[in-house]
Amino acid sequence: MSHGETSTTPTPQVDLGDPQLTATINDGLSQVEQLLRAELSGGEDFITDKVQHLAVAGGKRFRPMFALLASQFGPHWQSDKVVQAAVVVEMIHLATLYHDDVMDEADKRRGVPSANARWDNSMAILAGDFLLAQASRIMAELGTDTVSHFADTFGTLVTGQMRETVGAGDGDPVEHYMNVIREKTGVLIASAGYLGSLHAGADAATVEALRRYGYAIGMVFQIVDDIIDIFSDATQSGKTPGTDLREGVFTLPVLYALAEDSAVGEQLRALLTGPLTEDAEVEQALDLLAQSTGKQKALGDVHHYLAEAEAQLDLLPDGKATQALRSLSGFTVSRVG
Ligand code: IPE
Ligand code: IPE
Ligand code: MG
Ligand code: MG
Repeated sequence: MSHGETSTTPTPQVDLGDPQLTATINDGLSQVEQLLRAELSGGEDFITDKVQHLAVAGGKRFRPMFALLASQFGPHWQSDKVVQAAVVVEMIHLATLYHDDVMDEADKRRGVPSANARWDNSMAILAGDFLLAQASRIMAELGTDTVSHFADTFGTLVTGQMRETVGAGDGDPVEHYMNVIREKTGVLIASAGYLGSLHAGADAATVEALRRYGYAIGMVFQIVDDIIDIFSDATQSGKTPGTDLREGVFTLPVLYALAEDSAVGEQLRALLTGPLTEDAEVEQALDLLAQSTGKQKALGDVHHYLAEAEAQLDLLPDGKATQALRSLSGFTVSRVG
């Protein structure tokens, strides 16, 4: 594949309030994009089109952006290692998206057909594996601490995906959900804060605050994503609404709606006994959910985790980068209005 074909997607641009910081982060994001594209072109041609598929399609680059912002808290924020760390996090994220869409039988991702829909499950799984292989090589360059950090991160992420698949059993479903999202989403966003600041040489307390901030904002991020899956259309998410419902995966707004002591709650309990096979059933469930208090209650948890994120930011020096992280928190919630 020629360079002309791969450089058509613009690097995501952000406005972080301060013009100088915005320029610095956007420059970092361009470097991330360059390295990412190079890493995705490192195999045979028949691999490249599959592993580039989702990267070229779009994506917010939220994790690399956060890693770059976190690097602003250390003296070596211009180090190549920061860019490498940001790329590793995005590659791991991408790999999990390929695998997640197989698990969820999702047909759309980043506004295009998912890899499993465009090719098939085997191709999607192998493309995800290839991304993990490429990411591992960069991690080796970053050092054994990073490799070992990722061994833990990835183990936790897989645990979360499997915990979700196994289900809550007799346990409390909301507690189960919170554990799942901390593992499958919080941990990787926490990694972005951790690795970005670590490789910029930030002190241990700062690295820890950024890791914890990432965890909290990751919880916000996933709850918001789950609200969008139920209450928004495909143009906003680039994914097909109700995908989780179809699979019988009941996310936070659904769990709250199911527990509701009302006629709507009762109808939902009768309808949502497992995976939904008919489009009409999904439509009916989405209608009922819109009439429930599920979204409001889930937003209550969003605000709880936002406060936790704020508490970590209060431990950081009050400067432009901390201000930008406050806007980043706002951005994660603004997606649900
Ligand atoms: C999607 O993540 C998976 C979740 C953890 C909710 P993003 O919303 O960051 O996906 P992209 O990278 O922008 O496509
Ligand atoms: C997101 O899983 C977390 C991972 C990919 C590990 P979901 O299934 O909740 O995310 P979307 O909605 O497909 O992006
Ligand atoms: Mg999914
Ligand atoms: Mg999933």
